[in-house]
Amino acid sequence: MMTETAERILFIGDVVGRPGRRLLKSALLGLRRELSVTLVVANGENAAGGVGITRKTAEEIFSAGVDVITTGNHVWDKREALEYVRWEPRILRPSNYPPGSPGRGFGVFQTSRGTEVIIANLNGRVFIDTAFDCPFRSLEDVLRAFGRTPSIPLLVDFHAEATSEKIAMGRAFDGRITAVLGTHTHVQTNDARILPGGTAYVTDIGMTGPSEGVLGVHSETVVDRFYTQLPGRFKVASGPTMLNGAVVTLSAGSTEALQIDLVNRSFD
Ligand SMILES: [Fe+2]
Ligand SMILES: [Fe+2]
Repeated sequence: MMTETAERILFIGDVVGRPGRRLLKSALLGLRRELSVTLVVANGENAAGGVGITRKTAEEIFSAGVDVITTGNHVWDKREALEYVRWEPRILRPSNYPPGSPGRGFGVFQTSRGTEVIIANLNGRVFIDTAFDCPFRSLEDVLRAFGRTPSIPLLVDFHAEATSEKIAMGRAFDGRITAVLGTHTHVQTNDARILPGGTAYVTDIGMTGPSEGVLGVHSETVVDRFYTQLPGRFKVASGPTMLNGAVVTLSAGSTEALQIDLVNRSFD
């Protein structure tokens, strides 16, 4: 089915803590080969101890074979990210943070075949604690930077809680960009499809890290929090892990997605 010249872009859902980073180190190179992947994007907002990202944790993710790291509402949880994200162009933060925020919300990257693609990162505003600018207008601004309809593929990590906001984003940009891929809920949804205009869409690609906790966090602490409503320190879960994501396929020279396939692998 795959043509020789296909681009296959793998997005990996929120990498949670050390178990997530270790899993990438042991599994990603093999997966890259097995799935004929030409670019890897991973959401790293939970890379450092479950919340935030640091230089050390980002470098581990890059050295495991990830080309671009996207983030989300937890991007600034570790203070050093304010400096690090400012000068590391391979890390994106949501483009709809207020003007003046450090770092970049989108960038042009090259696949292993030499094709240029735009990766953009946005954060939702529904049921999320931080005040973001409008993600829809923000993506319009990104498109405008590339002449309204980009001539190269544009794939978006839309980091958002509400399914309606994510689906609306897919509909709003269907036919104008290559893919809208949801992150943040840490639960992979079963709605991956190509929308009528040719944009690949999935509400959430899931998470990468411990599979037996609550969204990657140690179960008992989360359950206790629900029972008692007392503050407590969340710690990253241990035990079996999973790697969740999606591969978007497009033929060389095209911006239209041909196919989207979910990835959901379990490890002991
Ligand atoms: Fe997350
Ligand atoms: Fe998040």
